[in-house]
Amino acid sequence: MTYNTNIKIGELLSREEAVAVLTRHLPEFVKEPTFKMASSFTLDQLAALPQVNIPQDVLQALKNDLSKLDFNQSSSEAASHQQAPSRTATPGLQGKVIIVTGAGSGIGRASCLKLAAGGAKLVVVDYNEGTGLETLKLVKQTGGAGIFVKADVSISSDVQNFIQASVDTYGKIDVLFNNAGMLQKFGRFQDITEEDFSRVLDVNLKGVFLGMKYALQVMDKQGFGHIINTASTTAIRAEHSLASYTASKHGVAGLTKAAAIEYVRKGIRVNAICPGGVATTLTDSVPRQLQESGYVPEEFPNMRIGRYAQPEELAEVVAFLSSDSSSYMTGSIVVVDGGLTL
Ligand SMILES: NC(=O)c1ccc[n+]([C@@H]2O[C@H](COP(=O)([O-])OP(=O)(O)OC[C@H]3O[C@@H](n4cnc5c(N)ncnc54)[C@H](O)[C@@H]3O)[C@@H](O)[C@H]2O)c1
Repeated sequence: MTYNTNIKIGELLSREEAVAVLTRHLPEFVKEPTFKMASSFTLDQLAALPQVNIPQDVLQALKNDLSKLDFNQSSSEAASHQQAPSRTATPGLQGKVIIVTGAGSGIGRASCLKLAAGGAKLVVVDYNEGTGLETLKLVKQTGGAGIFVKADVSISSDVQNFIQASVDTYGKIDVLFNNAGMLQKFGRFQDITEEDFSRVLDVNLKGVFLGMKYALQVMDKQGFGHIINTASTTAIRAEHSLASYTASKHGVAGLTKAAAIEYVRKGIRVNAICPGGVATTLTDSVPRQLQESGYVPEEFPNMRIGRYAQPEELAEVVAFLSSDSSSYMTGSIVVVDGGLTL
């Protein structure tokens, strides 16, 4: 039998027999965090990294042994991983009106489901209508309430539209989870095109700014509100070959602190979360992008905990922040990174 080269490391690690084969061929390497971190890579993509030294004959012998295993069962296990998160309700969310941008996938979708499970009313925002509506459907299937508004967060009129839709539908905004964002293509600083730089800054920084600006206008009148921005560990340290992304996320931390200071005595709180590596579409696209471009960064981030976070683990933090349990927090840059920045 030939080895299915599309199988990802994460899938291999979810099968005891596969782990035994890997341990036999790569006894030292399977213990390294790099290996577990590469859960969204295929074996070939991993072996192509200069930092990873797997001799060709070992790789071939490994594939031969792995090809003898049946992966049907593990595929369905891996698929079930990507489904709806746990429904343990966070207290203090009942009746809160919460806007979530980038809600069609990853951290945004997991947060919508977690917040809805706690009784929040959702304004589900994404520029991808299909995935955004799918999130709303999942919210409603779990007994939650919400509306969907299609919007590109980098376009001012789109942002004003979803802010207004929240007020028109629910009469208020308790929380804006300003989460939509994009990754840049990995590459050398000097090769970044002005066009790519502008797009990353437009979505990740201007998009966050616009959401804050128009939500703050409503929250200032209300006399209450909370903005939670999704930054990244790249808001507090650089990531190799990601200059535009790093700059945009440093900017998000700056906007968070600037607004937190201004509104601290107006009943409005502003905080940011800094995920490290999370298993979402965003990180899933990395191996393919590296393979297509042929460019490989000299360093990769090290999630010292040894794995990517599941989006649901970020949603737990978002739910806590959205609730009144976080009442004394403002201007906080909350790191949720499996030890990446240690
Ligand atoms: N996944 C990670 O490892 C990681 C780490 C640090 C920070 N983040 C940040 O977390 C946030 C969510 O990312 P994710 O990992 O869940 O990715 P994801 O790709 O799974 O989800 C991002 C969502 O945002 C939407 N989106 C993208 N651009 C948009 C735009 N201009 N207007 C409206 N919607 C838009 C996409 O359609 C998608 O539904 C992003 O801000 C990202 O930078 C992710």
